[in-house]
Amino acid sequence: MAEQSAFATQLLKWFKTYGRELPWRGIGDPYGIWVSEVILQQTRIEQGRDYWLRFMERFPTVEALAAASEDEVLRQWQGLGYYSRARNMHAAARQIVEQAGFPRTIEGLRALRGVGDYTAAAVGSMAFGLPAAAVDGNVFRVLARHFGIDVPINTTRGKRTFEVLAHELLPEDKASAFNQAMMDFGATWCTPRSPRCADCPFAETCEALRSGRIDQLPVKEKKLTVRERRFSYIYIRHEGMTPLRRRPAGDIWQGLWEPLMVEDAPLPDLGCPLTLLASNVKHVLTHRVLLADFYLAEPSSRPPLPEGYRWISECDLTDYAVPRLVEKLLALVPQ
Ligand code: ADE
Repeated sequence: MAEQSAFATQLLKWFKTYGRELPWRGIGDPYGIWVSEVILQQTRIEQGRDYWLRFMERFPTVEALAAASEDEVLRQWQGLGYYSRARNMHAAARQIVEQAGFPRTIEGLRALRGVGDYTAAAVGSMAFGLPAAAVDGNVFRVLARHFGIDVPINTTRGKRTFEVLAHELLPEDKASAFNQAMMDFGATWCTPRSPRCADCPFAETCEALRSGRIDQLPVKEKKLTVRERRFSYIYIRHEGMTPLRRRPAGDIWQGLWEPLMVEDAPLPDLGCPLTLLASNVKHVLTHRVLLADFYLAEPSSRPPLPEGYRWISECDLTDYAVPRLVEKLLALVPQ
């Protein structure tokens, strides 16, 4: 506990000297604070400041915003991008006016359109002094480094870990200053690249600095993009024989056997109609989703095939190791 309150004390001391002057700071108006948080969700502070000033001039109160048309709101938002933010905010303004007043609890704020845990905590703490920690990317980074936490921040467990820690660190009677100090410290000192460790107030206690892991924290789990591939398999049957080939190196299923397969290419002309046995059969691998179509072809003579196919007796099929997806095809082939 002592370590935790020492962290908050040090941070608040830093904030007194280095906290940024922003036009919505200290105004106490929940509406203006909320507008600033919505703008800053995806916009840099320099650009956000001008937009906030113009937006507040045009819509100075939540009633003014609620009374405006959606077109007018979107026009004011022009250039900020992510227009669903403006639409949600407009809808929430109408919710607020209908329910006669700005919600003053975290649950009430959370119930507004477009307001998630972070925004509810930011507005709740800054406008009403509610003891809620606003946990965003800045906070993840500051805490991961200072406390040497390597749980990936883009996982449920990671988010939970940092939320719990931020709540433990939060001085209940100074939530507003603490949250703003965390944001400013993360944005100006403990930055993603080239943080100011040389003149950091936490240089003595920062675990990442002590162990030389500033560049490695916070940890982000690589989300592998799942690529989709479309395979068409054609099971060819001629006089009790069928062609298979061994899958080459450099792709999935190296060394396993498969019937004629085409990927991203038209179906071949085998001199006979193709019977569709199944389509869009989904097969999920670790980093891939395969979608396969299965066909049966029964030509009257052996068609020419690309290199590498070997005609085998259908009776011997079970001697060949095939991928699970091909097993599914074989199960559909009539005897
Ligand atoms: N980023 C998002 N909200 C902020 C705030 N209130 N102060 C500084 N940076 C922020």
